[in-house]
Amino acid sequence: MAVFLLFLLPERQTPGRPAQGEAQVDMPMVALTFDDGPRTDATARLLDGLALREAPATFFVVGNRIAGNEDLIRRMRDEGHQIGIHTFDHVEVTKLSRPDFDLQVGKTQALLASLTGEGEFWLRPPYGKVDDSVRQWTDSPLILWSVDPEDWKDHDVNRIVGHILSHVQDGDIILMHDIFNSSVDAALQAVDALQAQGYCFVTVEQLLEARGIRPQAGELYR
Ligand code: NI
Repeated sequence: MAVFLLFLLPERQTPGRPAQGEAQVDMPMVALTFDDGPRTDATARLLDGLALREAPATFFVVGNRIAGNEDLIRRMRDEGHQIGIHTFDHVEVTKLSRPDFDLQVGKTQALLASLTGEGEFWLRPPYGKVDDSVRQWTDSPLILWSVDPEDWKDHDVNRIVGHILSHVQDGDIILMHDIFNSSVDAALQAVDALQAQGYCFVTVEQLLEARGIRPQAGELYR
């Protein structure tokens, strides 16, 4: 899936008459996603690096990690990233009752809404575990991934970057974790390498939009 860059640019040009110098080439695109944070030091460093590279990403945050990191949530919003929910206590949602599911999502949702003034936060279920009940209960699209460098496993920056570069394709959703400094290093190196190859970084929402998908509650996207 390749798209025109136009949709990322401010709406200042007449449709069909792009301003001079605008990219008209098809660019491959990829969505970096970060789970399990925020973590004060690592997430701040990641946000700094992504801002420098003008690379938006998507953060699926754990609700019980928000306290003390409110400024990072606001930065995510202000700097063009997408924010999603990874439950309040990083629990397997398939093991929850309906009331507990609603609590795990609802508490996180309320915190994020109070900090950002926004209302819609998509869900990434921990461990990617979903079942029919969860798909019925949720009022959000369920976001999985297509590239998993297992950055939590060995914290080996070179291996993680190598995995991403050898597996990534246009339209991929990459799974990482912004709680490890090694993952931050690997993510920023991967951004540098892929931008040099012509890749464009987008949020999950932008990626699905570019695919022509209208996300539905309870549907899985990867
Ligand atoms: Ni997780």
